[in-house]
Amino acid sequence: MAVFHLLLGLLGKALILLCCLLFVAFLGYCLYLRHIHMKYDHIPGPPRNSFFLGHSPTLLRIMKKDGLVHDKFLEWSETYGHVYRLNFLHYVTVCVTCPEATKEILMSPKYPKDKFVYKRLFYLFGQRLFGNGLITARDHDMWYKQRRIMDPAFSSLYLRGLMGTFNERAEKLMNKLSELADSNKEANMLQLVNCVTLDVIAKVAFGMELDLLKNTSPFPKAIETCLKGMVHYVRDVMFEYNPRNRTFVNEVRDACRLLRTTGAQLIQKRKIAMQNGEEVPKDILTQIIKTAATEETMTEEDEEFMLDNFVTFFIAGQETTANQLAFCIMELGRHPDILEKAKKEVDDVIGMKQEISNDDLGKLIYLSQVLKETLRIYPTAPGTSRDIEEDMTIDGVHIPAGVNCMFSTYTTGRMEKFFKDPMKFDPDRFHPDAPKPYYCYYPFALGPRSCLGLNFAQMEAKVVMAKLLQRFDFNLIPGQTFDVQDTGTLRPKSGVICTVKHRKYKN
Ligand code: HEM
Repeated sequence: MAVFHLLLGLLGKALILLCCLLFVAFLGYCLYLRHIHMKYDHIPGPPRNSFFLGHSPTLLRIMKKDGLVHDKFLEWSETYGHVYRLNFLHYVTVCVTCPEATKEILMSPKYPKDKFVYKRLFYLFGQRLFGNGLITARDHDMWYKQRRIMDPAFSSLYLRGLMGTFNERAEKLMNKLSELADSNKEANMLQLVNCVTLDVIAKVAFGMELDLLKNTSPFPKAIETCLKGMVHYVRDVMFEYNPRNRTFVNEVRDACRLLRTTGAQLIQKRKIAMQNGEEVPKDILTQIIKTAATEETMTEEDEEFMLDNFVTFFIAGQETTANQLAFCIMELGRHPDILEKAKKEVDDVIGMKQEISNDDLGKLIYLSQVLKETLRIYPTAPGTSRDIEEDMTIDGVHIPAGVNCMFSTYTTGRMEKFFKDPMKFDPDRFHPDAPKPYYCYYPFALGPRSCLGLNFAQMEAKVVMAKLLQRFDFNLIPGQTFDVQDTGTLRPKSGVICTVKHRKYKN
């Protein structure tokens, strides 16, 4: 009995000690947070919702209502100026719309990608996703080595060779639209163009035949689930610990696993073909294999690294382009005058020809303007962020080191300051003779970490749009919303539902 009392006493003391330690740690953290606030509070910004959570309750509230946090960033930029501050725990983000600072930071390799966001994309709920692939690699040398090896797969010569696939896959979409026109059925344009862009990237990057307009496949859903998971994982650190989210978190893990196991099978097949001396295409898959070590020294990490890039290209090479196409169709549906002008250009350049050539694409100048204007109002990848590791001054405001800087082309693209009457869809803003936007329009980011797939994406988008304009009249079903949905990337909430009819050609 005495021993029991002694043990109970010891346990009580240990508990008191633990409570004291926790209290001291909590007090220490509060003091540290206070220090952070004192260090950065001279930077203008909206009032914090809470001492600990900073501004995140406002943003989480918007997300819960399926709203768009980017509209809040825009509102704050208009209210607090070219540089404003946001807090979350001890993290400080500085949102920048100042063109000079955008140029200075994004154009220089000196500022690494922000560790909070990009490290969180390494693993998604404990399952590796983008790892150290091209988008998420933060170490400059590691990134540069990959980018150099990948570059040939995106050279203009190589891309020209992809025109056949762009044409062929876009033609499958035309066949599908033809069926829908004949049967008077509605077309969910987002879903359809999503099938095309996924078909294209699977084929030209990895030699995979999906043919999604005919076959069902788990990949579109898996990509969507990963993207949704990314938003929650990055913006809400407590998300995975909420038991109500357990099913979804497991779905995200399964989706990540599906993409990576598919990648592993394809890489294995290609490696065997290479070892057997078979002729293999110089596509993205071959380049991915080259970024890893040679066979003799291949470690488990090298294998994972190849899968990081497989997933990176599978997701980055598809979703953003599909969403751009869907937004573009939506805006053309809302602007019959612009639609007519784009159709006329397609008729003049391409006429009744089925196979679109690279030279034709160069002549579709108005269509390029339409696609650029689409990405101004609807940048499907809305922004990027960098770490600031040395003190600097932005627009006259002293920024002590230790913050991350967020750049949002969604915000700058919709600011009156940079684009007169910003919500007006006006492709003439990108007329070849119009002044170029000065570091306030960057849907493909800027500088060394800008999009590797820019030309790929815009060639593909032009082929799809040109064929669509050449063959069909389309009308938006009335009553649908023109809202934007935030799944990390941005997409049209409605899906862009249209009726399609075969075009009647005037003689
Ligand atoms: C409309 C279509 C597209 C848009 C709007 C877009 C936008 C972007 C943006 C904003 C970034 C920078 C991301 C960041 O800073 O975190 C990026 C990076 C990247 N994109 Fe795209 N992208 C598109 C299509 C593509 C396609 C089709 C591919 C590949 C086939 C691709 C491959 C990449 C890669 C590999 C990077 C990382 C580049 C690096 O850091 O070296 N993208 N893209």
